[in-house]
Amino acid sequence: MKCDYKIGQIIEGVITGVKPYGAFVKVDEQTTGLIHISEISDDFVRDINFFVKQGEKIISKVIDVDKENHQLRLSLKALNYSHRKERLKKVQKRSLLPDNDIGFDSLKEHLPLWIEEKEMYMVKVDLNHALLEEDVLSYQDEVSRIHEMIHDKTGKGNDYLGWLNWADDYDKEEYARVKEAAKRIRNQADVLLVCGIGGSYLGSRAAIEMIQGPLADDDLEILFVGNTFSSTQLARTLTYIKDKEVAVNVISKSGTTTETALAFRIIRQFMEEKYGEEESAKRIYATTDKEKGLLKPLADKKGYETFVIPDDVGGRFSVITPVGLLPIAAAGIDIDALMKGVKDATYDLNTDDLAENPAYVYAVARRILEKQGKVAEMFVSYEPHLLFVAEWWKQLFGESEGKENKGLLPTSVNNSTDLHSMGQFVQEGSKVLFETILTVKEPLADLEVPFEEGDIDELNYLAGKSLDWVNQKAYEGTLEAHVETGKVPNIILEIEKLDAYNFGYMVYFFFKALAMSVYMLDVNPFDQPGVEVYKRNMFRLLGKK
Ligand code: PA5
Repeated sequence: MKCDYKIGQIIEGVITGVKPYGAFVKVDEQTTGLIHISEISDDFVRDINFFVKQGEKIISKVIDVDKENHQLRLSLKALNYSHRKERLKKVQKRSLLPDNDIGFDSLKEHLPLWIEEKEMYMVKVDLNHALLEEDVLSYQDEVSRIHEMIHDKTGKGNDYLGWLNWADDYDKEEYARVKEAAKRIRNQADVLLVCGIGGSYLGSRAAIEMIQGPLADDDLEILFVGNTFSSTQLARTLTYIKDKEVAVNVISKSGTTTETALAFRIIRQFMEEKYGEEESAKRIYATTDKEKGLLKPLADKKGYETFVIPDDVGGRFSVITPVGLLPIAAAGIDIDALMKGVKDATYDLNTDDLAENPAYVYAVARRILEKQGKVAEMFVSYEPHLLFVAEWWKQLFGESEGKENKGLLPTSVNNSTDLHSMGQFVQEGSKVLFETILTVKEPLADLEVPFEEGDIDELNYLAGKSLDWVNQKAYEGTLEAHVETGKVPNIILEIEKLDAYNFGYMVYFFFKALAMSVYMLDVNPFDQPGVEVYKRNMFRLLGKK
């Protein structure tokens, strides 16, 4: 048998011996390999036994081939990001398990650490199906430079980085008022109208729909208005709430956004007719700039309780401020858990080390795929509760990176529903896109497929299986179809659950990824100059002076 292994090839073998200078690997019946101690890790290796174990199956990279003697030189440290992450997990686990000289008591001591370790990175990134032609880790220098720029606040648009350390910096007194106001709203109203557009509503809607969905068992119904000029939508909403108890949260940073301001004028009059001026002032809450714009003076004059959108947090980052937190808390969602998620992500993702920062890995992978000719990124989920997370994500990435004729077009689908519409294009259409799948480990609820006598619909082969398992298989089958057959790259992101903690963690993950990815394009991620063009034309046509 010829030895036709090639340098650079990733191979699997079994560790047959561990010596102080390296580990021997059986690759096939005739071929052996050596992983020299210097090829184990970039870090100092005190004891090789810590990293590999006799009998263990191991993936490594071929760095030299001696064809005559059927011998290979192998490397672990030369593996790419995904393979290295897998190894790291194994090694970390092993170091905390009892057979590694940790007795029962010390295992107990280590347990919290282990749990912490397992819970690290609540958003996991898998690039095994991303069809990347470059190694993410080769971008380390660029990532380190930009990381420093983000944290030193020296890049373009740096006065909008208030979200970066918001989990520590937020106004605690105002946060307590948000919770109080949310409680009051829940007592006052059957319906809360959230009046805002863009960053002033997408985040709260994403959170509420992700965590509760449309059929939540909650007494307060939340309706989103002021995000369109549609007369039908507003008129129908006002008819629907006519006989209900109503509260309003109007949200506008600029205080001049016409969709929101116009809807709010109509709603304000509706409220004053329904409740009178004094009572409606107790039911209307305004979230706006601390002084600029027209909403703040209006709110002060009317006597509404106000909440502040910080100067240094842009609309699409504002879900973690009162903009998002008041409607989310009013929906009965635990905003302490949400903020804990933001805080944990702030710490977990505060490293420039690419091998340790999944947000940056995602950021770099997007840019590599763009270099490979992709022009669109399709956000994919298999969970209708994530429909508005997709809308929020599209605003975050579209408004931040679509400038100077640059950027990936953010688009989205919800599967398996959209496999019956867009699936054809993804599978066989022009190869312009890659997919970013957000998967959820645990569903909010599950059902078992029942057995049926007679099996007329021929579904008994699924009897006893859970519906979530079926969804999972649809996802796995699609992944294979799109990647293997369709050659469409897939980045996989995974979160644990549809809850407040995961939402907080996830939004910060996307903020951090976005900042890195957009700075890699040398574009200001935090402004949106192009939005003004339609407004100028519309104002001219409306006759605004
Ligand atoms: O992200 C943004 O800045 C925008 O989407 C705004 O949030 C949106 O235009 C609404 O603006 P405002 O809150 O000033 O009414």
